[in-house]
Amino acid sequence: MRHFLDIHKTDREDLRSIIDEARRIKDKRNGLPKAAPDDELPLQGRMVALIFEKPSTRTRVSFDVGVRQMGGETMVLSGAEMQLGHGETIADTARVLSRYVDMIMIRTYEEATLLEMAEYADVPVINGLTNRTHPCQIMADVLTFEEHRGPIAGRKVTWLGDGNNVCASFLHAAGQFGFDFTFSGPPPLDPEAEFIQFARDQGVRVEIERDPVKAVEGADLVVTDTWVSMHDPQSARERRHNMLHPYQVNAELMAHAKPDALFMHCLPAHRGDEATSEVMDGPQSVIFDEAENRLHAQKAIMRWCLGA
Ligand code: CP
Ligand code: NVA
Repeated sequence: MRHFLDIHKTDREDLRSIIDEARRIKDKRNGLPKAAPDDELPLQGRMVALIFEKPSTRTRVSFDVGVRQMGGETMVLSGAEMQLGHGETIADTARVLSRYVDMIMIRTYEEATLLEMAEYADVPVINGLTNRTHPCQIMADVLTFEEHRGPIAGRKVTWLGDGNNVCASFLHAAGQFGFDFTFSGPPPLDPEAEFIQFARDQGVRVEIERDPVKAVEGADLVVTDTWVSMHDPQSARERRHNMLHPYQVNAELMAHAKPDALFMHCLPAHRGDEATSEVMDGPQSVIFDEAENRLHAQKAIMRWCLGA
């Protein structure tokens, strides 16, 4: 039984095999209607609980569709409507759910909730985003980059804006997949030192560059995300916007990256804030491929978790 909790907690060989498996799964489905089952049904007879303590479009739909294509069934649960949201412990919830379902995917606030769920569950637990990381997203992003540009190892990825949960998983991926990472944002929103250190310890170059133009020079991939994450207080919105405005990804900034640089955003986006529509809908943007690849990457993650 394997949990998928974070990219730095998963062996490199396993991460690579998940990406390769995702490509195989995607290629095999080429042209099939979305509701058509895969020709292999590794989740037949299995039930997967999808728990959401925060809103979601992509994670919810891609996990749900992915499980069904692999022959399994899902149960989508809102944290607020569970006893979990009314004082039952995570540990007890994990032990109870393990008697009914074969796998748990959880999107939550505190990382501690995810870790407690994994500690007490007898079934695999998958991280569907916490305040600190979003590993499924970055697996889809690595898959997306490699489909368009070949191996990500040795490339330069530049992150603009808030050093948030998605940025943290990118730093984990930099270390594990071997690419260089430049962060460009205001000092109060730097990624946590622990995430930077992990990547550096694996021997990749991590730079903090306050000048966004210098930061994107030589970049193979330019990435940004919302300026206000779901766990950020709305009261911080104006201050964040003021701090982050210089880091907007627009056509002028993209022109300083490599001519064939890709643009990514995990979505949902606030068009005109962290990125302009010109960039998001432009020829370098692969944002909807990223969204599609959540499906394929997570199917490979679920198969790895279950050894199926
Ligand atoms: N990128 C992502 O996780 O989107 P959702 O919040 O819609 O799931
Ligand atoms: N950083 C964003 C990602 C959403 C998928 C958030 O946590 O709200």
